[in-house]
Amino acid sequence: MSASIRPRRSILYMPGVNLRALEKVKKLPVDCVVFDLEDSVAPDEKNLAREQVVAALDNGGYGGRELIVRINELSTPWGADDLKAAVKAKADGILVPKVSTAKDIATATKAIDEEGAPSSLALWAMIETSLAILNVKEIAETAKLPGSRLSTWALGTNDLAKETGAHLTQDRMPMVSWLSLCVAAARAYDLTIIDGVYNDFRNLDGFRQECEHGKSLGMDGKTLIHPGQIEPCNEIFSPSAEEIETAKEIIAAFDKPENNDKGVISINGKMVERLHAEIARRQVAIMAAIERLSED
Ligand code: COA
Ligand code: MG
Repeated sequence: MSASIRPRRSILYMPGVNLRALEKVKKLPVDCVVFDLEDSVAPDEKNLAREQVVAALDNGGYGGRELIVRINELSTPWGADDLKAAVKAKADGILVPKVSTAKDIATATKAIDEEGAPSSLALWAMIETSLAILNVKEIAETAKLPGSRLSTWALGTNDLAKETGAHLTQDRMPMVSWLSLCVAAARAYDLTIIDGVYNDFRNLDGFRQECEHGKSLGMDGKTLIHPGQIEPCNEIFSPSAEEIETAKEIIAAFDKPENNDKGVISINGKMVERLHAEIARRQVAIMAAIERLSED
């Protein structure tokens, strides 16, 4: 299993203008941090936010967390400067908002390349427009083009609701078909997929329900807006102790010489296929990555 597996359970947005948040997150157990220059920053504060985020990245202190900068759209007065600043400050990734077509990915990739970014700098895309939902396949398949940087999708459920008129309900019925479609497209092209935010951040029961829902749809993790959401999110999106134990049993069973060329075996009265061994290996690798991160 690839050493490049990274846990992406909890992804916390922080407004780039909020200095306390930029500092506080160094002690929070999140897998990824998104330094936001877009929706959470007012137009008058765009330049200040960019300067503060660059200074925070330069000063470091964020341990093994994956550090992502969400830039403004490249068509806005700030987008190009945001992108340049993020490359220069050596962010791990750039999150591009309102990606709606394959061309948007090509434009962002070209702009990042032109700044001389290392190949390790990842491109993350917000999927949050109705056009993006109609174009999920063409956007996802850009991940297989030579020189692609696309690694991750973050779903923007607030923007989707705003644009389409669909309601943000606790059961998410109005959006579930779009969420599932995105999961299928992401899986088809090996992308990480991260669920949208839960706005009612003081309601932790509702939040837990939505995490469970996202996990059941196949999401890898969830974007967060408040420190109080981190622990339940990490717990729900980590493989459980029981899952890891079962995974290890499955791997050990398929590793036995007598099962070497078998496609299907029986463990504790249940049918287990070779595909289950692949899932098991991935779970164990993710757990190891989670343990490495928590040692940082
Ligand atoms: N990241 C890091 N720290 C955060 C945080 C975040 N997203 N949100 C709050 N905190 C910190 C606060 O700075 C405060 O720290 P302090 O105790 O050192 O002062 C502490 O957590 C408690 O905050 P609280 O008073 O409960 O929240 P609030 O009322 O100040 O802020 C929000 C509520 C929603 C405005 C704020 O959480 C926020 O801005 N979230 C991110 C929004 C965002 O980025 N949106 C764009 C993507 S949808
Ligand atoms: Mg948005």
